[in-house]
Amino acid sequence: MGERSRVVILRELLPAGRELLSDRFEVSSLGLDAGWQQMLAAAAGADGLVTDLTFAVDGELLDAAGPQLKVVANFGVGYDNVDLAACAERGVAVTNTPDALTNATAELALTLAMAAARDLPGAEKDLREGRWQGWDPARWRGFELSGATIGVVGAGRIGGRFMELVAGFGGERIYTSRQPKPELEARFGAERVGLDDLLRRSDLVSLHLPGTPETRHLIDGRALGLMKPTAVLVNTGRGTLVDSKALILALEEDRIGAAGLDVFEGEPNFDPGFLTTPRVALAPHIGSATYRSRDEMSRLVAANVIAVLEGREPPNPVT
Ligand code: DGY
Repeated sequence: MGERSRVVILRELLPAGRELLSDRFEVSSLGLDAGWQQMLAAAAGADGLVTDLTFAVDGELLDAAGPQLKVVANFGVGYDNVDLAACAERGVAVTNTPDALTNATAELALTLAMAAARDLPGAEKDLREGRWQGWDPARWRGFELSGATIGVVGAGRIGGRFMELVAGFGGERIYTSRQPKPELEARFGAERVGLDDLLRRSDLVSLHLPGTPETRHLIDGRALGLMKPTAVLVNTGRGTLVDSKALILALEEDRIGAAGLDVFEGEPNFDPGFLTTPRVALAPHIGSATYRSRDEMSRLVAANVIAVLEGREPPNPVT
């Protein structure tokens, strides 16, 4: 038998996927605290790299791995951290983990929407910090989603599932998408509109776009200015979609109703203004963090590595 291929997990892969890899290959895993120099050193000689959104997969890393590298399997559906051109130049396949996290992420978008609309974090903080003086008719009033016009920006898999989840609220559903989505229009009576129209009409705006140079700060001061003063903005896509400073200002000046954020520009750092801004629900990038989703994502990572290293087309190539 020839030498086993080497797979390096540059941070962490859950056992559901790691065990599939270990059955077939020589696998090493650096863990969550690995620094860049450690990653460069560990990548040397790898046939497959397991990567994730927390660090860049660039020419430096690919060259450190060496010319035998065949696959970069990114643990996540997004791949804005991967330099696709650099991979293509070196003949390295890139894969991701779509579908596995669609429902989990859509459910978190709904969780954030409802938490933000009722300012659950603010109310809970008051309770925890001993400021609750008893039932109060005027305090802690928020917005209801029933009958709301719900705007989905980017009606792909996750946006489509989000639309399905909110269908029970009644009201109108509108969306933006590069392509029309006849199935969303037929099932949910959704209407395809331009972004400005969506922002003007929606009571809830949920962002489901990838982080690309084109989508950077799609929601800036101008866009926020189009929204209703009672509207709720939810972002479970990428932090770069929203201009943080402009959002903080809009919330502080009561120009929008509330916001629910799972992703941040420059995370794990984020604008400290969010900690003191009113009516904002915050989560530390946990959209896909369910047992089912993360296990399935881990299995998909492994299935992609296995396919490429065994000379087959991977199930989830990034094109
Ligand atoms: C992704 O998959 O891109 C998410 O942001 C992390 O689960």
